[in-house]
Amino acid sequence: MVNILIIGSGGREHALSWKLSQSEKVETIFTAPGNGGTPNNVPINVDDLDGLVDFAKKNNCFTVVGPEAPLAAGIVNKFNDHNLKIFGPTQQAAQLESSKIWAKNFMKRNNIPTSRFEIFDDAKKAQKYVESLDYNVVVKADGLAAGKGVIVCSSDDEAKSAIETILIKKTFGDAGNRIIIEERIDGIEASYIALSDGDVALPMATSQDHKRIFDGDKGPNTGGMGAYSTTPIIDDSLAKKIQEEIIDKTIHAMKNEGILFKGFLYAGIMIRDNEPFVLEYNVRMGDPECQPITMRMDFDLYDYFEASVGGKLSSMPTPTWKKQSAVCVVLASKGYPESYPSNEEISGFDSISNDVCVFHAGTKKTDGKILSNGGRVLGVTALGASLEDAISNVYAAVEKISWPHKYCRQDIGQKGLSYF
Ligand code: GLY
Repeated sequence: MVNILIIGSGGREHALSWKLSQSEKVETIFTAPGNGGTPNNVPINVDDLDGLVDFAKKNNCFTVVGPEAPLAAGIVNKFNDHNLKIFGPTQQAAQLESSKIWAKNFMKRNNIPTSRFEIFDDAKKAQKYVESLDYNVVVKADGLAAGKGVIVCSSDDEAKSAIETILIKKTFGDAGNRIIIEERIDGIEASYIALSDGDVALPMATSQDHKRIFDGDKGPNTGGMGAYSTTPIIDDSLAKKIQEEIIDKTIHAMKNEGILFKGFLYAGIMIRDNEPFVLEYNVRMGDPECQPITMRMDFDLYDYFEASVGGKLSSMPTPTWKKQSAVCVVLASKGYPESYPSNEEISGFDSISNDVCVFHAGTKKTDGKILSNGGRVLGVTALGASLEDAISNVYAAVEKISWPHKYCRQDIGQKGLSYF
């Protein structure tokens, strides 16, 4: 039996702990720092790497890292130095997410499909470059910017203002010391996530996120307002193409360059005329994609984490998936992604049936009550025989949960339905 330490405090981490708790090999799950729904919270922040090492050592834990920041800070290297088992990529491998410039150059030299781009650290030169183009662009800060450093532009003026925001106003601090200006590819976006041990990569079920705050993909970007799995947007032949031409190629090219990628590799894919392009890599599970994906897992996730760390994924059976669809609707605090109220009591948990999962994100438990404590508060997730059924099941559950400033999109999953 093994103890698990999950690092993070979002819906993704709650979903991972829910799935891992079903393994017969798992004894106790701790979460650092966790939220109002996660088990055995430990008050250690994700950036306190020494504190996390000490805790994992004392409690003999196998550690699972949820978010990107500790990966970029080198938590896996540190745990490896202490001979502690930890699931996730090293700091070198995490560059696929922590430096967008590193990732773009990597894709270019390895012929992995992505849009054409240039790199700038000088705002005037960047703005002049934009004027010379006859297509729209996306302006990206190089470093980690909590999901906000990507600005999709529809005109030269928007692009120039994005350049100013990142390079002159320094809205994202040092993460914006350099930028990428890349061609904007218009198409349909989907998420393709695989689990790798550095040699092979096993695909997870496909999914699609809903990044904008309002229905119909309107309004500002968020961390994600809901997701569903499987997505019909990626059919079998497209999945094969993405697996071979993007995922396998990435893992092998990393290995050839002397970097073993272990952990979840997430490719944000734009599909145009049935051709996939990498919009970005993430080096972790998606949030909220993780919630519907884990609900469909018909295998022991701990076994696969062990095999990833041990370099033994090639000897594992192909992961099997529940045939049903799963949909996660994120319940947020009204005002998110800008300012929003906190500390509001949430009710209705008792009326949720056992086949629906309510994954906590921005919540805390105080005096036995669950209070809102963040922008994205809960991820209500349900299965259904079809995508339509899963949508109807999840929204029936969403109705039962309330607090004064609850907000959610009403159209999660519709993009999938409209594709049939
Ligand atoms: N759902 C987007 C992300 O996890 O980055």
